[in-house]
Amino acid sequence: MTRDEAFDLVKGRLGETATLAHCLACEACMRMLAARLGADVETWGLAGLVHDLDLDECEGDPERHAVVGAEILRQRGVAEEIVHAVLGHNNKVERTSLLDKALWAVDPTTGFITAAALIRPSRSTSDLEVSSVKKRMKDKRFAAAVNRDQMRACADIGVDFDEFLGLCIKAMDGVRDRIGLAGAA
Ligand SMILES: [Fe+2]
Repeated sequence: MTRDEAFDLVKGRLGETATLAHCLACEACMRMLAARLGADVETWGLAGLVHDLDLDECEGDPERHAVVGAEILRQRGVAEEIVHAVLGHNNKVERTSLLDKALWAVDPTTGFITAAALIRPSRSTSDLEVSSVKKRMKDKRFAAAVNRDQMRACADIGVDFDEFLGLCIKAMDGVRDRIGLAGAA
């Protein structure tokens, strides 16, 4: 499946929603992480892009989330390593590969960075610093639903947390106009 085919599939299921923006943010982070780790940029980007394609239709039934998506992806011949990462991000299989583990850490991190950017005067990632994200993380009430330990699981792919956050901020800033973080212009 090409990147454009994946995008059409995901957009067709999610529409122009916050979930689509989240998928695009994850795609950007996964591509940058792959480049950093010498992994396959296209494969990792695709995993990020498609991982939540079934989220809307599985709303109210979180147990099916990722299982439905994996079935859709398999029917379209998507590589099994991507399907495995999608299943792993909702605990449907054990996360074994670097790709599985990267997606696990990226998923909550994009949400947290989005929340941290939106409370800035700029409402953007353009001037968001790692230190300010880390400061927000200490406030348990801020973006309370986001699992901090899961963000820090970047240690499992051998990337230091500060570097990981910096890399994700940079990746998301690169697509900020597509993910609602272009600022209040
Ligand atoms: Fe997600």
